[in-house]
Amino acid sequence: MELQAIQAKMAELSTQLHAHNHAYYVLNSPQISDYEFDMLLKELEALEKQYPSYIDANSPTKRVGGDLTKKFEAKAHRFPMLSLSNSYSEQEIIDWAERCQKVLGAASEFVCELKYDGVAIGIQYQNGKLLQALTRGDGQQGEDVTNNVRTIRAIPLQLSPDAPSDFEIRGEIFMPQQKFEALNAQRAAQGEALFANPRNTASGTLKLLDSKEVAKRGLDCYLYGVYGMSKTTNGHFEAVNEAKNWGFKVPSPQTRMIEKTTTIVGIMDFIHYWDKQRFELPFDIDGVVLKVNSFEQQEQLGLTAKSPRWAIAYKFKTQQVETVLEAVTFQVGRTGAITPVANLQPVQLGGTTVKRASLHNADQIQKLDLCEGDTVQVEKGGEIIPKIVGVNLGLRKSENRILFINNCPECGSKLERQEGEVQHYCPNEQGCPTQVTGKILHFISRKALNIDGLGEETIELMFSKNLINNPLDLYHLTFDQLLSLDRMAEKSANNLLQSIEASKQIPFERVLFGLGIRFVGETVAKKLAAAFQNMDALRCASLEALLDVEEIGEKIAQSILSYFSFSENLALIQGLQAVGLQFQSEAKTLHSNVLEGKICVISGTFETFSRDELKELIELNGGKLGSSISAKTTYLIAGANMGPAKLQKATDLGVTLLTENELIKLISQ
Ligand code: IVH
Repeated sequence: MELQAIQAKMAELSTQLHAHNHAYYVLNSPQISDYEFDMLLKELEALEKQYPSYIDANSPTKRVGGDLTKKFEAKAHRFPMLSLSNSYSEQEIIDWAERCQKVLGAASEFVCELKYDGVAIGIQYQNGKLLQALTRGDGQQGEDVTNNVRTIRAIPLQLSPDAPSDFEIRGEIFMPQQKFEALNAQRAAQGEALFANPRNTASGTLKLLDSKEVAKRGLDCYLYGVYGMSKTTNGHFEAVNEAKNWGFKVPSPQTRMIEKTTTIVGIMDFIHYWDKQRFELPFDIDGVVLKVNSFEQQEQLGLTAKSPRWAIAYKFKTQQVETVLEAVTFQVGRTGAITPVANLQPVQLGGTTVKRASLHNADQIQKLDLCEGDTVQVEKGGEIIPKIVGVNLGLRKSENRILFINNCPECGSKLERQEGEVQHYCPNEQGCPTQVTGKILHFISRKALNIDGLGEETIELMFSKNLINNPLDLYHLTFDQLLSLDRMAEKSANNLLQSIEASKQIPFERVLFGLGIRFVGETVAKKLAAAFQNMDALRCASLEALLDVEEIGEKIAQSILSYFSFSENLALIQGLQAVGLQFQSEAKTLHSNVLEGKICVISGTFETFSRDELKELIELNGGKLGSSISAKTTYLIAGANMGPAKLQKATDLGVTLLTENELIKLISQ
């Protein structure tokens, strides 16, 4: 390669990796598997090694990743939170162990552990109490998620008396598979989008603003490292074991979740055991971690800029199997997007039977160059839906290429694909049955108009009987029409009518979300409602005005403009407005001025209200919110698990403490 081409290649890899980092850490929506990401990173690392003069100071190889959002306070780590160097190659693990042995002497001990697939957490304890919990963030600073961490039952709030008085413990917060499946089942029942995998769900959950919701989700945690106290043991294995006596959930040697060995054979045996056994665990692991046991030897080996030399992770390859592609079918979503789905000869993969795989879009089919009856390689990455990663050409039986369809499988309309878009769409928004019923289902879903008592089957039945063709028709349904439907008894008909009536009180932002405008999800709908306040203003907004709103880019703005350019949509909105739905953001009217001139600070966790609800309550009663306790603070609204330092400060400054109940009493006076 020419030097110029190499430089360009490095820049391209950097750009790709930055984008994937963002998708993974910030958006929680990875676009490629961890394996693919690591391979790109390794490619860049290798080029950087060979051509150091081309290294960019902001290269993705220079950082550990980052998950800082503006939601939580960023705080500095007491000790930098390093990451692990990792490898998919057994030979590299052998090389690492041999290097350690060469420096340290052959008899050195290794600790083998599981690599839990979740989110790293650093928790500080002082005088036996949980003080603060930070996410990894960029390794130097993390987000203060203490209140959420306090809800995790595996993490002790109070330690046994023999625990050291000041130390930090680090570990991995994860969501057990069973909790993940239950959560998704619940979301499916409520018509909400499903979470992709336990790891992302754990990370998203940890950053919810409502710790009550966090508590409900059943996160779990294993601890894997003790930091910052004068050591009472000589080795890592012993320190972790001791932490169990202080009250922590740590891996047990009995189940081989942690093991000590002095040999490379021992390390390999651990790796091979867990490569098979991992599917029996109730949570996900993505590899194993190997560490030098002795603290003294760890120091001797030292650190690189990013990771310790005394530890390494072996990552399992994502499991792949071959199976036969039986057919490709095409699904139509509520926005008309067409998704090709591969129907496969059922095959066992990573503990489940796989029958279908997503093919994403036309480009993907073309890239794979799929032919009828092909034997394909299926992989299960971080996502629940497996994907096809390749074709076994040696077993190809036919040269009949799988072609993307030209017409909608539901209504026959000619499909469209806009420039720059990867997805094909069925343009028949008003007439395509799947789109019509899909839009109605979205409209009534819990986060939109929350109309109870209507499932997919009933909607389809009503549509086939020509009772409903769009969301507006719901508001014209009569009791007799409902009774005429199979399986609809008087009571359910009444409940349904009541629920439809109640939906007229649902706030504007949720009505807007319910309309199902392409790319206008829950968050975007909230931003639009806040920026424009009412439907008329939004309907008349120019491209520039839309782009001025936070988080609204060209794609969303164009989609909104296009939505309002259809007379059917305008008629729908007019109709919904006429039956009494909310098309105006609620003006916040004060409930009272009981708290006028009072500055309130909220701290800890609460029973009845979430922190956001409490904040709103304070403001609605004339109060102001303070971010930290000072001489100006009138009330400290003190919840459970409030930090001792805050309590002391409030007492010293003579700030009045109110419990949640006392605040409610005060307000209701
Ligand atoms: S030790 C300095 N041990 O893997 C080394 N990390 O990049 C500190 N992880 O997100 C990490 N299981 O949270 C260690 N048994 C284990 C682990 C583990 C999972 C995570 C860690 C971090 C990543 C390392």
